[in-house]
Amino acid sequence: GVTVGRTAAMGEDERVPDALNPADPAFARDPYPYYARLRAEGPAARVALANGTHAWLVTGYRQAREVLADPRFSNVPPRAAGRPKPDSPAQRARGCLARHMLNTDAPDHTRLRRLSTAAFTPRRVDALRPRIERLTADLVAEAGARLARDGSVDLVDAFAFPLPVLVIGEVLGVPEADRADLRTWTYRVGSPADALAPGAVDEAWTSLHAYFTELIARKRRAPGDDLFSALVRDAGEGGLDDGELLAMAFLLLFAGYETTMNLLASASLLLLTHPEELAAARREGPDRWAAVTEEVLRHASPLEGTTWRRTTERVELGGGLGRGVVIPADASVLVVLAAANRDPEYFPAPDAFRPGRYLSDGGRAAAHVAFGHGPHFCLGSRLARLEAAIALPLLFAGLPGMTLAADPAALDYRPGLLVRGPRVLPVRGTA
Ligand code: HEM
Repeated sequence: GVTVGRTAAMGEDERVPDALNPADPAFARDPYPYYARLRAEGPAARVALANGTHAWLVTGYRQAREVLADPRFSNVPPRAAGRPKPDSPAQRARGCLARHMLNTDAPDHTRLRRLSTAAFTPRRVDALRPRIERLTADLVAEAGARLARDGSVDLVDAFAFPLPVLVIGEVLGVPEADRADLRTWTYRVGSPADALAPGAVDEAWTSLHAYFTELIARKRRAPGDDLFSALVRDAGEGGLDDGELLAMAFLLLFAGYETTMNLLASASLLLLTHPEELAAARREGPDRWAAVTEEVLRHASPLEGTTWRRTTERVELGGGLGRGVVIPADASVLVVLAAANRDPEYFPAPDAFRPGRYLSDGGRAAAHVAFGHGPHFCLGSRLARLEAAIALPLLFAGLPGMTLAADPAALDYRPGLLVRGPRVLPVRGTA
């Protein structure tokens, strides 16, 4: 079963002796009972992790929003004291690419965010629709052909993974011929080093760094009508400098692909296991599909936790009802969005997958925190929703007879506390 973390909701006393192991496959598959127990103890709890460190996990909905809007929770990663000097090319590349706005606080963040918001306009995002439709249609046709040939296909491999990478390729204005490379490098830098051939992860970091450096130079010479060209064009006087552009390209790639991949994979799974909801979406059209997407975001939050925060001082959280928690200064804090989105104090029947709630509750459920909250609220939420709105109906229209070819309770999930989604999603069918 799932190991219960050692928690101390009210202070420093530690009651439960086992540490939380995020790599435990049972935990990865279904972390929700654990989060529910944690939340029952208090809206934030200090947990021992299997790697010997401690972290504060915020599981309450109200407190999640409180933390994400509070500048005393910093996004700047702790100083790299004691880490090896960035003396290898791969470490230097990684250091450059990680200097992006999700790792900054105000006022740096405010400036970077303003510049990127100016480029990421609704008009520019909406203009991607025909391209996303074409990319999806091609992938679905290919998946259909594989289904007909092999009798089964993995929807993660054939659909949920490639589509977001291709769409980010559009955002960055990357030539189609380069997108396979982008896909490979992105996959590698997101993988544990020991899961790949020696040197593969390092090689991917240096390749991405070199590629984006060259991309910026190319956009300067010959700007396109893509979003990244707009950022490059506005660089210079008061705009992004070259290092910031580089980190922004990497952030868009990284923030945009794995999250959307998990949204598409979890949505496919939930619709395959809830045929009545699939039928309702097919019958009722776009508003119902949009409600499905929102409910997947809430019920199967693709970003299970935010990026790590660190307290700049002692913070008293959610006081008032006798359930207040004191988090000391310099503590590691993770806002568990997946847990906040199932807080029964805010969402009635939180464990039920019920897209209909969005059409009947006057917008209450739409205040889920799957895209975060506060100054770092997801820059790509409109794009992610557009991708889902296009891709899900096309997938189920193109592969109408498919059925799940695995036990949903035994699927393999990505380990860790940060992202969540099935790693493979085999379907069979009569395409
Ligand atoms: C930030 C979720 C898709 C770009 C965030 C955050 C969340 C999130 C929760 C805040 C993280 C934190 O506070 O630590 C999601 C989900 C997505 C998605 C669930 C898909 C279902 C995208 C896409 C893009 C994108 C498609 C871009 C193309 C960003 C950026 C940030 C961000 C740039 C950093 C914003 C800042 O620091 O101000 N996202 N995201 N995201 N997201 Fe998304």
